[in-house]
Amino acid sequence: MKLLKIGGNQLEDAGFLSELAGALAAEKTPLAIVHGGGRAIAALQQQLGIEPAHVEGLRVTDAESLAVAEMVLCGQINKRIVAALLAAGVDALGLSGVDRGLLRCRRKVHPSAELGYVGEIVEVRALVVHELQRAGVTLVIAPISLGRDGQRYNVNADEAAGALAAALPAEQLLFLSDVPGVLQNGAPLPRLTETEALALIESGVVQAGMVTKVRAAVSAIENGVAQARIVDLPGLHSGAGTTIAADGARAPARETTIDAEAVIAAEARFIVPTYSRPPRVFTRGVGAYLFDAGGKRYLDFTAGIAVTALGHSDPEWAAAVSQQAGKLAHVSNLYHTAAHVHLARRLVEHSFAERVFFSNSGSEANEAALKFARKWARFLNDTGEKTGIVAFEGGFHGRTAGALAATARAQYRDPFEPLLPGVTFAPFNDLSAAEAAINGNTCAVIVEPVQGEGGVHPAAVEFLQGLRELCDEQQALLIFDEVQCGLGRCGRLWAHQAAGVTPDMMTLAKPLAGGLPIGATLVTEAVAQVMEPGDHGSTFAAGPLACRAAQVVFDRVARPEFMDSVRATGKHLCERLQALQPEKLLAVRGAGLLVGAEFSQPVRPLIEAAADRGLLLISAGENVLRLCPPLVISMEQVDAAIEIIADCLPALSPDGSEHR
Ligand SMILES: Cc1ncc(COP(=O)(O)O)c(C=O)c1O
Repeated sequence: MKLLKIGGNQLEDAGFLSELAGALAAEKTPLAIVHGGGRAIAALQQQLGIEPAHVEGLRVTDAESLAVAEMVLCGQINKRIVAALLAAGVDALGLSGVDRGLLRCRRKVHPSAELGYVGEIVEVRALVVHELQRAGVTLVIAPISLGRDGQRYNVNADEAAGALAAALPAEQLLFLSDVPGVLQNGAPLPRLTETEALALIESGVVQAGMVTKVRAAVSAIENGVAQARIVDLPGLHSGAGTTIAADGARAPARETTIDAEAVIAAEARFIVPTYSRPPRVFTRGVGAYLFDAGGKRYLDFTAGIAVTALGHSDPEWAAAVSQQAGKLAHVSNLYHTAAHVHLARRLVEHSFAERVFFSNSGSEANEAALKFARKWARFLNDTGEKTGIVAFEGGFHGRTAGALAATARAQYRDPFEPLLPGVTFAPFNDLSAAEAAINGNTCAVIVEPVQGEGGVHPAAVEFLQGLRELCDEQQALLIFDEVQCGLGRCGRLWAHQAAGVTPDMMTLAKPLAGGLPIGATLVTEAVAQVMEPGDHGSTFAAGPLACRAAQVVFDRVARPEFMDSVRATGKHLCERLQALQPEKLLAVRGAGLLVGAEFSQPVRPLIEAAADRGLLLISAGENVLRLCPPLVISMEQVDAAIEIIADCLPALSPDGSEHR
């Protein structure tokens, strides 16, 4: 798709519009149009005795000027463009950014001037454009946008075009101007990298209205648009004008030195083959998007298997990590450091727990919990018989020897038997089976409040409550493995809060440090008291780098409004999935933003088709699509993902085979 921005100046010329419409009628690639209208707004302001004022190219917009801008942009210019397109045979529809919430903005703040009702785009509902484009309609968009306060704002049309191009995403962003490109000594510069384009602004070569175009072009390119071109009407179809494209310095993902095929070939030669990966090499991430070595953008609904809760390269997180790396990264657990204490305090103050043991992964957090349980039981009853561990079918607790022993799936366990003895498996969500399995020799029961890998199955409230009672009766410790479902993933800080019961231990890992390795075993004082110096440890655990990163994640995720938004986007995701109603979709389940969609057949072909379309998904078992995007995913990004899933459903073959 192409996004075309038409400047306001040319629109005053009657011949221009019919010529443009004729040219666009011949266009093969689907198109969306954003238009300006500056000159006409200024003219009407003058007629009405309003003095136009500008700050750095932005129109200062009081209530009267906003009314004028809306009248001119939405009422006159938008309709004029639509009429010209229709006359040329293009099926066009005009709307403003307010309609269907297409463009959402916040009030733009300037350090030294009051801009009034000037907005900057924070969200784009790309779905609106896609839906109409599928129906063969070309949208013509006036850049009036809706603020979260319900107020309408005037948005610079270049900025609106850049944001829309990135969100669609468009392959090309075209600025149609009354000048033939970025001029130097009167002639257009044919090609610029992002860095060169920004340098021309710094040096003053790019000035006035061209500045917002160049900035919008660079921002769109940084967010995945392949290229932007600034051109006049005569140059539109001749490839003239100035093309701005990515360069290595600003966009490392698209460095030509990264040869994806060579990386994949070298991996096959040097890496132990424990994974079978699709043929993509990722080099960069921004928010909910990942970019591969070719610069292709993907909406990431995997979040590194429920890890990158704040999205990729969150600015606050990245700044904290790099500052800490420049200060102190590692000293080992031989010495005191501060970051792990600050993190432990936060975890304790927000949970049932009284102390924390840090490690480096979910498996290690569970390993620690199982060791703690064995020691606790020995302390309680030193006959050496209270060593039993009860775990559940469909559960997943990790790949290290102890955690694997508590993981039921034969495929993971069989090649490595014998594992840690003493583990019994009971069916999940079956309280009477659990009652039969838990006895006086049980030292711990380990369960995920929402099973992740096993197919996204939430535990029933009565099941967790019953396990608590059984553990109390048999003097066993209850361990909640919240490695995947915890820390906000399920719409509450801890997934078990939905059941109103507390465990004796809880394990955390994946999202805790936002992408750096960490594990945590949260325990009651009674458990902590049986552990002595030398009982357990780790060289890397509790390092300042991971713990500083985790503080940033925790402080953001623990905010009530953050949890509200996870619940709201999760609900929207489930509703949109349920509304798909393809005959092969058996169930949609989960909590918050850990959602499983179970199909009647293997989902791998659907995952592959979606990746080709720029959406990354994973499974949880053969037939379950697992959706676990970054917790900061927006409603519009959910809509975009659903749209791709809907388009890719035919990839599920009628006979359920995996071949496409
Ligand atoms: C519930 C649960 N526990 C433990 C683990 C193991 O974590 P890690 O891969 O960090 O060792 C996982 C990983 O997927 C998990 O989902």
